[in-house]
Amino acid sequence: MNELEDLVQSARSAFGRSATAADLENAKALYFGKAGRVTELMKGMAALSVEEKKTRGAAINATKQAIEAALNERRQALADAELQAQLKAESLDVTLPGRQHAAGGLHPVSLTLERIEGIFGSMGFEVADGPEIETDWFNFTALNTPADHPARSMHDTFYVEGGHLLRTHTSPMQIRHAVQHVKRHRFALDAGQGMPEIRVIAPGRTYRVDSDATHSPMFHQCEGLWIGEDISFKDLKVVFTDFCRTFFENDDLVLRFRPSFFPFTEPSAEIDIQFPSGPLAGRWLEVAGSGQVHPNVVRHMGLDTERFIGFAFGMGPDRLTMLRYGVNDLRLFFDGDIRFLSQFR
Ligand code: PHE
Repeated sequence: MNELEDLVQSARSAFGRSATAADLENAKALYFGKAGRVTELMKGMAALSVEEKKTRGAAINATKQAIEAALNERRQALADAELQAQLKAESLDVTLPGRQHAAGGLHPVSLTLERIEGIFGSMGFEVADGPEIETDWFNFTALNTPADHPARSMHDTFYVEGGHLLRTHTSPMQIRHAVQHVKRHRFALDAGQGMPEIRVIAPGRTYRVDSDATHSPMFHQCEGLWIGEDISFKDLKVVFTDFCRTFFENDDLVLRFRPSFFPFTEPSAEIDIQFPSGPLAGRWLEVAGSGQVHPNVVRHMGLDTERFIGFAFGMGPDRLTMLRYGVNDLRLFFDGDIRFLSQFR
């Protein structure tokens, strides 16, 4: 019997030494293969007598079963170890912080443009949009600025092939919008009836050959135009004062209309504002050009200059943004540095 017990022992240790499933299959062959030791035992049974088969046969069977059990046990142990190793390798650390999705936000100048549109919208102004590549006609000539006019040199700009140019201001939108408006009401006008007033703002990008801390070759303007039968400079003062006080949320803001010159307005004024308190107190800050629309411009809109009159202004949303948030360098708006921009989220 000892010989059989030794066989079981040797099988157990052979299986135990097998570190992988492939090793184990090789070890198994030593016992259950064609010339394996268990196989040889089974073959030997044929030569036994009936009596011997009962005793020795039972012992051999028990041996075979013990070795099979040892084999299965080792198989299971190797499979478990493999699973554990895999789980460990693929483990998830559920305590790691999640990936953050930073919320985006509008650019500070966009926030200002939205604010301007909101305030003028509440005063009944439409918002119009137009091309940044303009014709000489809309940018200059229709605005009472003929080719030899000295005011053009202040507007040196980028010219595009075919005589087009990058608009130097949003004022061409005065003509573009008014012409469309007049076209829509042509029948009524020709019949001597009136038309709804033109009341519009036109925000957008503009271009000039200028570059320093307070000037950028690309900058923003917002045009305003109000034309009717009795719209006067008084209305300009009321509307623009109301706008500035609402924009800066300061009812004590003071405005100054300083005489100036623009070819397309007569009389013309620069609009300065002054804060009664705070870091900017006591200084006049220029925020817009304005004036009563020149009769030559009213004519180019297709309107009767004896009947229609109104005002226009053009302001700088970049400047307004700098004043509102206390930004001292215009170039920060166009650098795209997220550390600067994220402060306005
Ligand atoms: N277009 C002028 C400028 O860019 C501003 C302006 C607009 C002045 C409307 C008067 C009327 O300087």
